[in-house]
Amino acid sequence: MKKLLTITLLGSALLAGSAVAQDTLRIGVDVPYEPMEYRTADGELTGFDIELGNAICEEIDRKCEWVVQAWDGIIPGLMARKYDAIMSSMTINEERKGTVLFSDPYIKPPSAWFTPEDSSIDFPAKQTLEGKTIGVQRGTLQDNYATDMFGDAAEISRYSTADDLVLDMDAGRVDIAFLDFPVGKSTLLDSEEGSYKVVGSMITEPEKYFGEGFGIAFRKRDQELADQFNEALATLKENGTYQEIYNKYFAT
Ligand code: ARG
Repeated sequence: MKKLLTITLLGSALLAGSAVAQDTLRIGVDVPYEPMEYRTADGELTGFDIELGNAICEEIDRKCEWVVQAWDGIIPGLMARKYDAIMSSMTINEERKGTVLFSDPYIKPPSAWFTPEDSSIDFPAKQTLEGKTIGVQRGTLQDNYATDMFGDAAEISRYSTADDLVLDMDAGRVDIAFLDFPVGKSTLLDSEEGSYKVVGSMITEPEKYFGEGFGIAFRKRDQELADQFNEALATLKENGTYQEIYNKYFAT
């Protein structure tokens, strides 16, 4: 009887338990997505999101632990309590807001189209995409957009990680890639493997597809935790820490 009671109490504590009360806060992230989240040569997680996330955790006095999770299961993983937040360059948009609670946007990078330097694709002329292969990371906004806009004219190649996409691009199997700009810059424009360029940004309905910038996602019941993150983010912007991290990854 006593045991049953303990189990019941434990069960309801877990159910009622918001992530604010836990000892360690776990944050889900999909890597590599350079320069936002990736591993150093010795396997350590680093990147803009990682450093900003760690600074937020320090600010709110919480121990944080990063949990690596493939992108296409990243929201289900949050719902299944594999972690308590997602900080993984996730764009805030209406559709996702139906499922998760977002922090304030912490950065707002554009999306961009990348081709090999010598490509004949004359973007944004849709007919030059006829029969071409567009590479995207599966389940991203770029995937949704390319599929909706060009799915009839071009073939869409969907990759589970941004790195697999870049490898195929270097191997000549992808004609044009659609990526968050900082990621394309870091992995294509700045890479030594190939020579790439940006070919204009043909983006219609930007609000619908590209939302309001990147946000940290929480379960909907965790408003208190989201508030703490927002407050910490504001502090880090005020005291210069945000700018310091920003400059480290984006200063040209
Ligand atoms: N910003 C895009 C989106 O929200 C892609 C993010 C992919 N992030 C990652 N870490 N792989 O759909």
